[in-house]
Amino acid sequence: MIINLKNFSFFSTLPTRELEKLSKQCRVQQYTSGTTILIEKEEVKDLILVVEGQLSVLKNYGGEKKTLFNLDPGDVYGEVEILNGTKSLATLIGYQELRLVYIPKEVYLRLIGLYQGFAKESRDLYSRRANLLLEETGDKGQPARVITFFNVKGGAGKSVISANVATMLARFWKKRVVLMDLNLAFGDQAILLGLNNDKNIHKLVNKKSLKLSHIEEQLTIHQPSGLKVLLPPSLPEHAETIRPELVERIIDLLKPHYDFIIIDTHNQLTDLELKILDISNLIMLVMTMELTFIKNTKVLLDLFQRLKIPREKVKVILNRAFKSLGLEPSKVEKSLRYAISYFIPSAGEIVVPSVNKGVPFVLSKGSDGSGILASVRQICASIAGENTDNGTWSMFALFKEVFGLG
Ligand SMILES: Nc1ncnc2c1ncn2[C@@H]1O[C@H](COP(=O)(O)OP(=O)(O)O)[C@@H](O)[C@H]1O
Ligand SMILES: [Mg+2]
Repeated sequence: MIINLKNFSFFSTLPTRELEKLSKQCRVQQYTSGTTILIEKEEVKDLILVVEGQLSVLKNYGGEKKTLFNLDPGDVYGEVEILNGTKSLATLIGYQELRLVYIPKEVYLRLIGLYQGFAKESRDLYSRRANLLLEETGDKGQPARVITFFNVKGGAGKSVISANVATMLARFWKKRVVLMDLNLAFGDQAILLGLNNDKNIHKLVNKKSLKLSHIEEQLTIHQPSGLKVLLPPSLPEHAETIRPELVERIIDLLKPHYDFIIIDTHNQLTDLELKILDISNLIMLVMTMELTFIKNTKVLLDLFQRLKIPREKVKVILNRAFKSLGLEPSKVEKSLRYAISYFIPSAGEIVVPSVNKGVPFVLSKGSDGSGILASVRQICASIAGENTDNGTWSMFALFKEVFGLG
């Protein structure tokens, strides 16, 4: 089987005749899901291009394996080892059926020597990944930020938005993300993400001395994105066995090994939610433009003030912002006496099929170019600390258009 390398951006700077020659020099391999492709410390003989499927890149730190990043179709692996002349710095495991192209090391090095554009492409990739791969302790990075989606009234969109934000951060920002569904009796995340809930938090209740490995065993991987999910007990009557102390311990153990812990909550304010709010780095207060939501959100903002939760830790998301009649966002801000940080348009034609299929809309082609996708992207960009200028401006323009401002 011949693969047309021209379709992969990493090779796009190479001339056609060189690509044709290269197609004959490389080999194509297929693997079933779960295959280990490369083992840490093994010799790297080829640059690997992913044509189909996804892989996790894992590194061993003192006996614990940590996922550094995922590889998707179009990604390559091996440039750091080949350019550094080291053995493999990580283990690669496929978690879907795979089709890979192997380009012999000598052939790759020759192309770098011959073509400046290709050398630059390789150097850019190297500089993005070398630090991560060469890092020896694995714990020098920042601990995970804990981001909680909250309100005391149901139907705000906490579950739908947290599922899509977590999926997008894992899939497109390549972040290591754990989503915890702490709506313990009636959580929706398994449905929203199309997951089976065999593994769940209830299995951690009676562990004598809880370790990271116990938690990892109970995380369900959302295959399409690489997101890891801690699901609620499979029986609602087990919800009350999950104590706030257990949740806190789980978060503490996960923190050094992930970039983000995203928490979906139930519509209540018990000891568990108070504990979560306390340990969160960011609270996303989700509401819609109904008077009852405005009232409850205001009560919560006042409570947060009394609890001395810093203002910069709390962001308000106004969901289904554009189809609600009678109330203007600026009036909502006035009555809350709080700025709205994010607007999410109402998009039933995108959200409802996505919920029913168990596929987050950030992964479906049908939402390309939609306002709802742009607003989730904007939330992710600001969480992940990327430049948000584009998102802000396009949302502002849309906003002005809908409300006839400006
Ligand atoms: N922006 C939106 N546009 C259209 N429908 C939405 C939107 N956000 C949420 N929904 C719908 O509202 C319902 C409630 O959302 P959900 O995330 O379950 O709320 P919560 O978790 O806060 O109770 C969902 O069934 C979903 O279909
Ligand atoms: Mg919910």
